[in-house]
Amino acid sequence: MRFVKPSKQELELLKGQDIISTKNLTREQLELILNTAAYYEEALKNKRRLYDMDGKIMSALFFEPSTRTRLSFEAAMRRLGGSVVSLAETPRVQTSSTAKGETLHDSIKVIDGYVDVIVIRSPQKGAAVEAADAADRPVINAGDGEGEHPTQALLDIYTIIKEHGHIEGLKVALLGDLKYGRTVHSLVYLLKRFGCELIFVAPQQFMMPPEITEELRNEGVKIKETSDLKEAVAEADVLYVTRIQRERFSNTEEYENIMDSYIVDENIVAAAKKGMVILHPLPRVNEITKSVDAYEGAAYFRQAHNGIPIRMALLALVTGNVCLK
Ligand code: NCD
Repeated sequence: MRFVKPSKQELELLKGQDIISTKNLTREQLELILNTAAYYEEALKNKRRLYDMDGKIMSALFFEPSTRTRLSFEAAMRRLGGSVVSLAETPRVQTSSTAKGETLHDSIKVIDGYVDVIVIRSPQKGAAVEAADAADRPVINAGDGEGEHPTQALLDIYTIIKEHGHIEGLKVALLGDLKYGRTVHSLVYLLKRFGCELIFVAPQQFMMPPEITEELRNEGVKIKETSDLKEAVAEADVLYVTRIQRERFSNTEEYENIMDSYIVDENIVAAAKKGMVILHPLPRVNEITKSVDAYEGAAYFRQAHNGIPIRMALLALVTGNVCLK
């Protein structure tokens, strides 16, 4: 797809909607998000001051650690002229009434009356759905345990299109913790919409949950499962690397046995198909050596920056505030 300016009519497609999963996004909604992101990226490049969310408030409720997702959501809201109220806590360090035993449902019922849009991250799979059920305002899932991370997957797709110039039919290898990695759980459904072929590279016990693989195969997606990274990179247009999700393990020995199983280094880059783009949602631990950063296809820091236009687009679209110039 090529980015084009969205029409006024299309802008209605996501108004009032929650963004919980990528599964049910239509191709039209998906293109609208990408086109709106490109429109905002251009506006920022031209140093335009935007007021699309002037007078609006976003709440960022983060019950799990975050650097990129929270800060880019907050920056995106401010770039649109809006403001932010936030909660950033972990199960160990609670500063909200969660510490007093308040349920997520009750907290959301209250916060819903304070703001125009709610962004939530939780260690609990399904928390974003629970929040959306309690809220009248649009809710955006910023990661729910090992469930999904739809806004990351949207910026991943946006990055692939920018780096390769297109996405239709590309071969994408997904590497690492495909079992617990929520970014890949969201990403595969978007890659499916663009007819991409998938290669899953993981140790057996960290393979993509079989129900997801089966569902995708039933819908006609070509999927190869392998443990051979060199073989995968020889044919992949994109290598999407993930971190082993240490926080989802109860057993540290299991983590230690697995953590170094795949490392993307100069040898892997040398074996890669020409022009292969390397992505990673970050943070990286040791899955990609620092020496790979100099490779021109290493796009992970550019990828993180694409979080701004994508999140600007999502915030303005779900609240119905995109002002086209
Ligand atoms: C990811 C997450 O939180 O799922 N990080 C992010 O949002 N960029 C990936 C990860 O933590 O491994």
